[in-house]
Amino acid sequence: MITVVGSINLDIVATGPSLPRPGETVTGARLARFPGGKGANQALAAKRLGAAVQMVGAVGADDMATEALRLLQEGGVDLSQVAHINGETTGAALIAVSADGENQIIVCPGANNAIRPEDTAHLPIEHLMGVLEVPVPALLAAARAATGFVSLNLAPALPVPDELLAEADLISVNETEAAVYGDRLHAHGALVAVSLGSEGAALYRNGQEIARATPPKVHVVDTVGAGDTFTAALTVALLEGRPPQDALAFAVTAGALACTKPGAQPSLPHRRDVEQLASGGQ
Ligand code: RIB
Repeated sequence: MITVVGSINLDIVATGPSLPRPGETVTGARLARFPGGKGANQALAAKRLGAAVQMVGAVGADDMATEALRLLQEGGVDLSQVAHINGETTGAALIAVSADGENQIIVCPGANNAIRPEDTAHLPIEHLMGVLEVPVPALLAAARAATGFVSLNLAPALPVPDELLAEADLISVNETEAAVYGDRLHAHGALVAVSLGSEGAALYRNGQEIARATPPKVHVVDTVGAGDTFTAALTVALLEGRPPQDALAFAVTAGALACTKPGAQPSLPHRRDVEQLASGGQ
C-alpha cells in the first residue's frame, strides 16, 4: 500500500493564447475547473497505474472539497484519512495554460496547511509518497513513520531540513528545483530523479547518472500534472522491482501521456495506456 501525504486542490484553469507577462492582461481564454493538487494527482496516478493507494490530507468543509475529491473517490483511492476542516477553504490553484501547453500556477493552500505532525506520526504507513505542498513537519513525521519505501517529490522548491532528505529512498525534482537544492539532494544516498520536460529524465545515485530516458513524441495540450505522473509512475515501477532504466522509461512515457489532455487529474494515464504507448502504439 502506498500512502500519499500531500495536497488536495481544486484547479481553476484559464486556457488562452499566451501566458501573461507581469502587468499584462491576456483575454480570449476558456475557463475550466479540475481536481488537482500535487499530492492528489500523484495518488490518483499511482492508483491508475495499478497500486493500492491511501490519501492523507485536508480539505475545507466547503463545496470545493466535493469537487476536488471527486476523481480520487471515483478512482478508488482510500480517502478515510482526509480531514474536512471547519473554517478552512479547500486548497485552490489558479492556473494559466497557453496554446502550446505551457503553464503558470499560483497555489492558495487553504486547508492543506492545516496538516500537523500529530496527524501523520502514528499512521500505519508502509510506502510513502510526499510532496511539499503540505507542511514539512507533517511530512517528516510521515517519513519517519513509514516502514517501506519513501518517495519525496520536493515540489515546489522550498527550504527543507537535511533530516527530511535523509529519510528519502527516492527524491524527484524538475530542473528548476534541482538547481535550487543543489548537491544536498545527493548527500544522503537517495536515488535522485530529475525530470527534464520534453527531454525526459535522468536518474542519479550518489551524484552519478545511472539511467536516462527520453519520452515518446506526443501532441502536447497541457503539461499540468505531468511531473506528478512521472513521480508516481517511477515510484510504482521501482516498488515493482523494475530495474532503474526500465522504471525511468515507464515514468517518462506516463508523464508524456499526461500532457495529451487538458486538466491535471483527467489527463492521468491508466496503466494499459502507458504500456500501449511504450510498446509503440498510440
Ligand atoms: O503539479 C500540478 C499541480 O500543482 C496542480 O494540480 C495544482 O493544483 C498545483 O498543486
